[in-house]
Amino acid sequence: MASTDADDCKHYIGSVQDVRQRCRTTAEVGGRKVTVFALKTSFYALDDKCYHAGGPLELGDIEEINNDLCIVCPWHKYIIKLSSGEGVYQGIDPATKKTEWKTKGVKQRVHEVVVENGHVYVRLNLAGKLDCDRYYTEEYRKLMNEDVVDLKFDFSDPNTKIE
Ligand code: FES
Repeated sequence: MASTDADDCKHYIGSVQDVRQRCRTTAEVGGRKVTVFALKTSFYALDDKCYHAGGPLELGDIEEINNDLCIVCPWHKYIIKLSSGEGVYQGIDPATKKTEWKTKGVKQRVHEVVVENGHVYVRLNLAGKLDCDRYYTEEYRKLMNEDVVDLKFDFSDPNTKIE
């Protein structure tokens, strides 16, 4: 679990050097599972559980689409912009019949990354309500603890069978 700077609710993730070296750092931050990506010269932080069905975004591939870095969920290949949390997809322009990238709007919660004195922190953004929030409700946690985790469901593998 990330430690917290109580003054302004910054959650410590690690040194810049370590976070860059790992490329992806997943931590429990304020009760949420958050992944920090260190890509090129920037850091991005977002809820790790995909808004679609809770897939582990920390295991997704990175793609650059229209100059935006995106994560591709490993479960059903939904694509999410790292900077904004927008879900994006390829649609067809009815006029030209050509494919173009379209947005579904913000679906995944992104958080602020703060870099200070060689260390990386996350400040949670909890404004509004987003699709991915359902994975952090009491009902969901209770369901997962009592009914799914006990049944040995492996979150990293969507093909795992419940025994
Ligand atoms: S769980 Fe991420 S695309 Fe379905």
